[in-house]
Amino acid sequence: MSDATPAHHRAIRSFVRREGRLTEAQRRALDELQARWGVPFSERTLAFAALFGREAPVVMEIGFGNGESLAEMAAADPERNYLGVEVHRPGVGRLLNLVEQQGLRNVRVICHDAVEVLRGQIPDASLAGVQLYFPDPWPKKRHHKRRIVQPAWVELVADKLKAGGELHMATDWESYAQHMLEVLEACPAFENTAGPGNYSPHRGRRPQTKFERRGLRKGHGVWDLIYRKRGDT
Ligand SMILES: C[S@@+](CC[C@H](N)C(=O)[O-])C[C@H]1O[C@@H](n2cnc3c(N)ncnc32)[C@H](O)[C@@H]1O
Repeated sequence: MSDATPAHHRAIRSFVRREGRLTEAQRRALDELQARWGVPFSERTLAFAALFGREAPVVMEIGFGNGESLAEMAAADPERNYLGVEVHRPGVGRLLNLVEQQGLRNVRVICHDAVEVLRGQIPDASLAGVQLYFPDPWPKKRHHKRRIVQPAWVELVADKLKAGGELHMATDWESYAQHMLEVLEACPAFENTAGPGNYSPHRGRRPQTKFERRGLRKGHGVWDLIYRKRGDT
């Protein structure tokens, strides 16, 4: 198990809850579809086969935003199960609607802090992948401690991945990309699929995301990092 700080002691969060405006469709999705595709947060570990109604590799996406890229990936990859975790309720409502409209049977959604979900609900060595696309960059130096990618978080993710499982991160902030690289290169549990110290030359299975498009419009670059958990597969 990871020795990351227990949930009730963790004061620094990677997000600020901003409720924003829920559209009528999002509100209805939260009311009506959460029972079907949502998973309540609890401190009990999930049984993935029961949750998805089948045995298949499970990929967890942290901070899926409005869920469009997650829905696109899940539709293109029906052989794997996708567990999306997001704190922003309008985004959760949007993804629930996409799941329902597109008949995506391989998606489940948790509206909660992904760090607590990882710690409390995800069995050790159970995930085929963790994806973190364009996490809040917290660009000011005094806020860097809020960045989700920290050594303790990386250890926690390593605990939850199966051997051979992948952690895929992307960001449009160069200083965050450098930070991700430093933290991951220092973690012996992971090997860099692009070779030590390198960014990934491609974005893997990842479609373009909403935040990525916004960054590109502002002239930002994009950095992908894909690491594999070491060990026997
Ligand atoms: C900059 S947005 C990127 C959204 C999406 N991945 C994209 O690329 O369009 C980051 C998202 O991460 C969510 N987030 C931040 N910290 C989180 C956490 N600890 N657990 C779950 N979601 C989180 C935020 O609510 C926000 O929607």
